[in-house]
Amino acid sequence: MTLILFPCYKAKKAREGSMVKKIAVFTSGGDAPGMNAAIRAVVRVGVADGYSVVGIQGGYQGLIDNDLVHLGPRSVSNILQRGGTILRTSRSEEFKTPAGREKARAILEEHNIEALIAIGGDGTFRGAVALSKIWKGKIIGVPGTIDNDLFGTDYTIGYDTAVNTALESIDKIRDTAEAHERLFLIEVMGRHAGFIALESGVAGGAEEILIPEYPCSLKDLSERIHERRKKGKTSSLIIVAEGCSEGGAYQVAEKLKRMEHGDYRIVVLGYLQRGGSPSARDRILATKLGAYAVQVVTQGISGVMVGEIAGNLVTTPLPDTWEKKKSLDKVLLAIAPALAT
Ligand code: F6P
Repeated sequence: MTLILFPCYKAKKAREGSMVKKIAVFTSGGDAPGMNAAIRAVVRVGVADGYSVVGIQGGYQGLIDNDLVHLGPRSVSNILQRGGTILRTSRSEEFKTPAGREKARAILEEHNIEALIAIGGDGTFRGAVALSKIWKGKIIGVPGTIDNDLFGTDYTIGYDTAVNTALESIDKIRDTAEAHERLFLIEVMGRHAGFIALESGVAGGAEEILIPEYPCSLKDLSERIHERRKKGKTSSLIIVAEGCSEGGAYQVAEKLKRMEHGDYRIVVLGYLQRGGSPSARDRILATKLGAYAVQVVTQGISGVMVGEIAGNLVTTPLPDTWEKKKSLDKVLLAIAPALAT
């Protein structure tokens, strides 16, 4: 592969200058469809640019445990279409301690790693910033989380697939809800963010969408359901983001029951939203961002997340990715109530 074919690609070859020579890549936190596509892009573009690439297996815990593997172009064959992450992932408690991070620093130095490409969400990036206080190598973040809750990119890797996975289930539940004239509560992922709930809810024609960003009144919601019934709407789908102010689908259902909505059914979509083959959009995004992360390393930049905003590849300081709030789609928020009447 010769990147010279793409005029916009201006990365200097690592071997030509005094650039970083060895890159490590890893995935951390919740897995997301497309993480493999990002790993593949880092490895293949990295090697094409003259780097030696190693993979850290099992996230920060794998780094502490010295679980490193050399990655070449053939190591990442046939993974583009696979969900999960070939490098595995973890939420390491040990890395949260100064002693754990000290072990991680020692391993990075032992292997002469000069740049770290971290694919994950805000927890991963918080860890990266903590590590950068004791390690002098470069750290670049790549946004990989189904939650889409990172500032500095329109979409995170895995989000598009997760929305479509949720939507497929919502469409199926609509069939049975209509047939039985029932009320369904469908819980989708999003502990702190309502991106999946809002988009899958609007795309699935949900009557109500409950998201963590806005406290909801179940009393008002109950009245709206009654109103719609009177107007001839016999089935209702309520999409509940797991972090909704009234709790998850089970808690919301319990409260609605007390408001005389007895006959309801609950579906918690859960972890199936994290798995599966990535959509074309996620593969493309992951490929662009993985390649761009390598380019950013070559430019000597550190402490940023790569992202795509309005079609442009951009970088954002890592702390901004979780300290600044990415807005939900304002148009969808505004029209959702009218669409549900
Ligand atoms: O990946 C993000 C996310 O799916 C959240 O929406 C969810 O709350 C969380 O991960 C749960 O993941 P785990 O059980 O792996 O901690």
